[in-house]
Amino acid sequence: MPDPPVLCATLRTDRLSHSSAENVPKTASIRAVGVANRSRPSHIRYRPCSSYQRKKPCDERGPHKRTKRLGALTPFVRWPSKAVVKQSTALEGHRTRSRLGALLQFEQDAGMNTETRTNPTLLPLEVKPLKIGPLAIDPPILQAPMAGFTNFAFRQIVRDYGGAGLQATEMVNARGFVWMDEMKAEHPDRLWGVKDEPRPLAVQIWDNDPEMLAKVGHRLAHEYQVSIVDINFGCPVRQVTQKAHSGSYLLRFPDRMGEIIERVVEACRPTPVTAKIRLGCTRDQINAIDVAQVVEAAGAAALTVHGRTAQDFFKGNADWNRIAEIKTYLKHIPLIGNGDLDSAEKVVEAFRRYDVDGVMIARACLGRPWLFQQAAAALRSEEIPPDPSIDEQRECMLRHYDLVVDRFGVEKGTLLMRKYACCYAQGKPGARHFRAHVANVSTPDEFHAIVREHFPRD
Ligand SMILES: Cc1cc2nc3c(=O)[nH]c(=O)nc-3n(C[C@H](O)[C@H](O)[C@H](O)COP(=O)(O)O)c2cc1C
Repeated sequence: MPDPPVLCATLRTDRLSHSSAENVPKTASIRAVGVANRSRPSHIRYRPCSSYQRKKPCDERGPHKRTKRLGALTPFVRWPSKAVVKQSTALEGHRTRSRLGALLQFEQDAGMNTETRTNPTLLPLEVKPLKIGPLAIDPPILQAPMAGFTNFAFRQIVRDYGGAGLQATEMVNARGFVWMDEMKAEHPDRLWGVKDEPRPLAVQIWDNDPEMLAKVGHRLAHEYQVSIVDINFGCPVRQVTQKAHSGSYLLRFPDRMGEIIERVVEACRPTPVTAKIRLGCTRDQINAIDVAQVVEAAGAAALTVHGRTAQDFFKGNADWNRIAEIKTYLKHIPLIGNGDLDSAEKVVEAFRRYDVDGVMIARACLGRPWLFQQAAAALRSEEIPPDPSIDEQRECMLRHYDLVVDRFGVEKGTLLMRKYACCYAQGKPGARHFRAHVANVSTPDEFHAIVREHFPRD
């Protein structure tokens, strides 16, 4: 998430000489927060606070400090527009009622109470299900496709916790699919489990040949009956871009992308086809707005944008302002924002601050598959469930291991589990020590012993 500078001003209404304070109770105060934002300078947001915090003695300043520290991470409610103020003024017959007074009214109307003041994520937030073609994705929180990670076992773990409205497979190469199908009468490993898995489920494909992609899309839509066929136009990996002229390489050629999407849409109908892109190839070649229009015109049912360029890989922050800018240019299809969402609060913030219809989470869910459940609760304005205890997290990891071994066999499964185990430990005290040990395990006994002895404790 970008961390825009936040300007705060705390006003105490009994100190306002402005006649606008007339209708406002003397004890109330407003904390106005303006988010400096070059592209959308009119974004003014506010958060009410119940007392004049700066005047409080030091030992009572905790919440204020915390609020300040969280800064851009804390969701804000928009300052009521002039139209809203006008309406509320007219309704109440207070001709001279100020914007400030209307703000307090707006606060009441929004159902804020003591609890929501202390926990702004509880403020009502109306997030609609995400419409992708005939599907309603609810909640509109998507589990991202991640090569080498989002296999059958991982998807099952995420599903157990709940909260992800749509899950996605790893990306599947169309050429590889066709070759295996014709030469060996087999299908790629990455499609294992897809036929029988609960829906909705998206399968992501990549290549640069419209016919090849259409052929595979058709099989996925009609034989596998997947809910969505997603096309990858964002992968920055050399093997995909330089060697296969696919993934984010195609962002340079929007016409080609349009051709690909049209063919795949035609082949998959009525199954919706979506596209996942980055902002552009390089910082100098950001063309996501043009690309988005091509994607929509070609018949895609939704667009996901990762707010970085291919050149960025994972460096820097995802640029959510750029993601949100795209929305204005899309006439019918929903926009899904992706990049750096690693907490329920950030998911709520993404919906509050940026004009997106859905969000997608990738890296953060690898070691915290319960994140979707937490984010979904926050979107429903419910209290965010705490992280599972360390013991529960260890249990979850061991269940994940069993699923991986069931799926890939003991040898490959144990090797594969090393990287997930590192994700589960990430950010905990002793994670480094655990990583050093788990990186060498090759048998189930070793894995269990290392987890027992070295997985971080409470
Ligand atoms: C290990 C790994 C594998 C990925 N594989 C894919 C993939 O197969 N298809 C795709 O569209 N994006 C892939 N991505 C990108 C993610 O889907 C996502 O766009 C990116 O990680 C940004 O989201 P995040 O900040 O929530 O991680 C991958 C990312 C990672 C870290």
